[in-house]
Amino acid sequence: MRIDVLTLFPAMFSAYLDESILQRAQVAGLIAIGIHNIRDHAAGRHRVTDEPPFGGGGGMVLKPEPIFAAAEAVIGGASPGPRRILLSPQGRPLTQALAEELAGAAWLLLLCGRYEGVDERVRQHLVDDEISIGDYVLTGGELAALVLIDAVARHVPGVLGDEHAAARDSFAMGLLEGPHYTRPVSFRGWDVPAVLRSGHAGRIARWRREAALRRTWQRRPDLLLTAALDEDDRRFLMTLARETVGQEDERTQS
Ligand code: ADE
Repeated sequence: MRIDVLTLFPAMFSAYLDESILQRAQVAGLIAIGIHNIRDHAAGRHRVTDEPPFGGGGGMVLKPEPIFAAAEAVIGGASPGPRRILLSPQGRPLTQALAEELAGAAWLLLLCGRYEGVDERVRQHLVDDEISIGDYVLTGGELAALVLIDAVARHVPGVLGDEHAAARDSFAMGLLEGPHYTRPVSFRGWDVPAVLRSGHAGRIARWRREAALRRTWQRRPDLLLTAALDEDDRRFLMTLARETVGQEDERTQS
């Protein structure tokens, strides 16, 4: 898979992309990431990339010409070209499902906005998708592009050492993951649950499933509406619901 990024701040990317799993994925040739400076495509001695907005108001808006020129330099005459994505708080939310879908694309072109935004003609005539990483405003799209690259790369075959790790993730199975433990068995008097050391695969799997259901019930009950649940899961959720009602009764009575 190939990912190209258009940004005014290319140096922001190397610290993250040149370490750990993403670095290994690039060295192994599983993903090729190109970072391109929009300023290199700006005209004139001062290479201006932003201007005040027409109609007044504060802030600066990224000009269309250097962005189009940078995109065209990257794409060349390639057909089919990349999926062209603008990172912006106005985009549709990045979800696990969207990350997985994007991992199926051969080529992505990510455009990082800055300042007050980008000229609307970029939105209308250059990009085919606009993605947000959450309902908050960052100073630019660079962190959002890194988040997207990371979330997408995990779904590219071979990037994670364990082929099934992505499928086990929180959200992949529609539930949050339960707790994980490693050595030591006892730390400051806090013990690893005995079942995890029992060696009994069936009991461990059931415990993990119930721990995932419990955590989802407590933290993200909205996910239970769409998760794939079997009869055992439903029965367990009923006991959780009864527990919760019992706890609330106790609180109102005391
Ligand atoms: N640029 C600024 N804020 C952003 C956000 N929340 N998501 C994506 N890009 C952004």
